[in-house]
Amino acid sequence: MDIEFLAKYYKFFISGTGITLFLSFFGVIFGVVIGVFLALMKLSEKPLIRMPATAYIEVVRGTPLLVQLFLIYIGLPKATGIAFPDLSLAIIAVSLNSAAYVAEIIRAGIQSIDKGQMEAARSLGMTHSVTMRYIIIPQAFKNILPALGNEFIVLVKESAIVSVIGIHDLMYKADTVRGISYKPFAPLLIAAVIYFSITFTLSKLVGNLERRLSAGDPR
Ligand code: ARG
Repeated sequence: MDIEFLAKYYKFFISGTGITLFLSFFGVIFGVVIGVFLALMKLSEKPLIRMPATAYIEVVRGTPLLVQLFLIYIGLPKATGIAFPDLSLAIIAVSLNSAAYVAEIIRAGIQSIDKGQMEAARSLGMTHSVTMRYIIIPQAFKNILPALGNEFIVLVKESAIVSVIGIHDLMYKADTVRGISYKPFAPLLIAAVIYFSITFTLSKLVGNLERRLSAGDPR
């Protein structure tokens, strides 16, 4: 690997990194939106509301992302007759996958708040939803936010799988450079270094955030 090699191919890695970050970012955003609903459904007292969410979470977490990706990639255009752009199909697959994991993060965050908080608020005359909104959720947020940061980190790595359906992410670009440069190793090594720089930086940021959020906690 030399300077000439980098000078020739760096653009591939930059655009690939852009797609990887884009995909992971929107994956986690949509994952959170869907995940919030799933978590609230799962916390419901009504089995008819709780069960579909539980089933969804179990099935998604119990099947490979690779399989889900192909099911969406092939199934969604077929079922709807709409020619979705490939990138949007990848985002849908990643989001639907992430939502199941996010739902569990949010549920655990909410359940980690002592139930005395709910009881105290209710005894002061607040309704269930007012208590959730003003007492429980703000406290749960502290536990949830760093975990969501970690989910983003997971997606940066896991999203490499979308290269199999031809999304031009970092993994795909590394493979492209491998093909056109006849260098089998260097491009993959560069991709690994880039993935690691991203995840390492992000995990430091999440660690900082976690420390700041927990400052002043009585434990
Ligand atoms: N490699 C895992 C699988 O094949 C992907 C897990 C995705 N994880 C996540 N937190 N979104 O199922």
